Amino acid sequence: MNRTLVLCKPDAVERAMVGEILNRFERKGLKIVALRMLVIDEALASQHYEEHVGKGFYPELVEFIGRSPAVAFVLEGPTEETYAMVRLMMGATNPGVADPGTIRGDFATLMGENMVHGSDSAESAAREIALFFPEL
Ligand code: RTP
Ligand code: MG
Repeated sequence: MNRTLVLCKPDAVERAMVGEILNRFERKGLKIVALRMLVIDEALASQHYEEHVGKGFYPELVEFIGRSPAVAFVLEGPTEETYAMVRLMMGATNPGVADPGTIRGDFATLMGENMVHGSDSAESAAREIALFFPEL
């Protein structure tokens, strides 16, 4: 699996940062192989974030991820580490401690508004790509 799923979350779309984010991945050398804009409703959110269902922050997460459109895309790289490269470029989950030079470190301040999602393993990538792009 040389592919991974990325989301520009609603905060990124609202702030007109989609181009900046896509540009970073394209400059890195990763290829966009599919892309769509959509509102992530509760049903899709519960599948996408299934490992977080029931946690304290889950209701807030669902509300945030569906509050306005997101942009979902699939990136492909030359190795099986594509998901890990993307996670490095995203930075830590909490933007307050994310390294400068990362998307979250450069552009965000709050845990609940952290701009991007990236699959956290090859297995997650396969599952999430099938969820957002069943045609692939
Ligand atoms: P994501 O899935 O969105 O790419 O983020 P991640 O892997 O870096 O972090 P994850 O643990 O999967 O959490 C998903 C999203 O839930 C919010 N969160 N809040 N208050 C909290 O303790 C907490 N923990 C996680 C974050 O917005 C995170 O991106
Ligand atoms: Mg995650």
